[in-house]
Amino acid sequence: MPADVAGELRRARPPRSRRGVVVFCTGLSGSGKSTLAKDLRDALLERGDRTVSLLDGDQVRRLLSAGLTFSRADRDLNIARIGYVAAEVARHGGIALCAPIAPYAAARAGVRRMVSEVGDFVLVHVSTPLEVCEARDRKGLYAQARAGVIGSFTGISDPYEVPDDADLAIDTSAVSRHDAVAAVLAHLTRGGWLGA
Ligand code: ADX
Repeated sequence: MPADVAGELRRARPPRSRRGVVVFCTGLSGSGKSTLAKDLRDALLERGDRTVSLLDGDQVRRLLSAGLTFSRADRDLNIARIGYVAAEVARHGGIALCAPIAPYAAARAGVRRMVSEVGDFVLVHVSTPLEVCEARDRKGLYAQARAGVIGSFTGISDPYEVPDDADLAIDTSAVSRHDAVAAVLAHLTRGGWLGA
């Protein structure tokens, strides 16, 4: 391979330790996605060798996706926006941590496609069972969904398509907070995105 071609490829596709990567956590409301994503951000910042951006579901809906509803079309638009921003982060070699419900496989696949053009995509299914999320009911939304006060609630009156392409599944009712973070860090280290 001519040297200039090889150089161009290296620039376009740097080694994984410098390549952008999107860690996309999907799961039910109350499954522990945000906690996992925030813990990951803290752990990565503490290492100090990669830049980190957090795109949490609730936080995104306050500004970037303010005004969107929970219809399928609006959820898909919300996920496409998150994917767009995450891909920009990855394009510049950063790590983007995303934590929306992202209930539809097609929308998640769209993000995977977009991100894969500029970096790598790691899908983490936060697989905490519905019963556990509902029993936790941190925001009181499951009770309201059961009572019919809010409609189209994921897991109750709206679908959640379980991923069949997840790189990792983490049930936060079965592993500790510490072990959940450690599992993702271990995956990123095994894959070469983080130095050992
Ligand atoms: S997504 O489907 O578009 O990915 P997103 O992660 O942004 O959802 O927002 C989910 C959060 O919005 C939930 O954690 C919950 O706090 C709140 N919420 C309000 N209404 C609903 C609903 N109908 N279904 C799911 N979550 C809802």
